[in-house]
Amino acid sequence: MTSLAVFMVLHLLLTLSPPLFGQGRRLVRADESLIQIECHNAEVPSTCIQCLTSDGRAENADKVGIATIVVDCLQNHANTLAGNMSSLASGTKDRGMKNVFLKCGQGFSSAEKALSSSTLSLKNGKYENAEKFVGEALEHELTCQKNVASYKDQIPERVAYEMRIYEELSEAARRIFERL
Ligand SMILES: *[C@@H]1O[C@H](CO)[C@@H](O)[C@H](O)[C@H]1NC(C)=O
Repeated sequence: MTSLAVFMVLHLLLTLSPPLFGQGRRLVRADESLIQIECHNAEVPSTCIQCLTSDGRAENADKVGIATIVVDCLQNHANTLAGNMSSLASGTKDRGMKNVFLKCGQGFSSAEKALSSSTLSLKNGKYENAEKFVGEALEHELTCQKNVASYKDQIPERVAYEMRIYEELSEAARRIFERL
């Protein structure tokens, strides 16, 4: 290329790119910052951010949308944990342990229902109720956590991890609700 051609290409790029790319960058930054802002106050922001970035809706979500997505994540985890507890219950002959896992499974099923109610409350603008239901769902998890304490060694690491994430997400949800 001649130097004139190089100059013209550079000139074109410089005049065209700011409007073309600048706007896109600004939009992305705005979306990311709402996720960052909403997760910033959580005890474990990375868990909150991971939940939100895994859901395509977060990109265009407002605060209520962000809260709804976090409640959905909680519901998915509750569903997984309910199943995990049932299989742990059927996998043991120890009566005490079977009972504890069965109770945990029921608890996580109840948590799922409470989280459904939370989603509905969010949709209807009843934010205090929505927060109450998340708290109710967390109670089930905490009860399970307490009851399985004596069987800690019998719980697969993956399930223990799911429970930890569940608690972190609940806490993150509470912080997000406080700001609605
Ligand atoms: C827990 O449940 C999930 C979803 O059903 C499943 O993929 C996973 O293998 C289960 N984990 C354990 C340790 O049972």
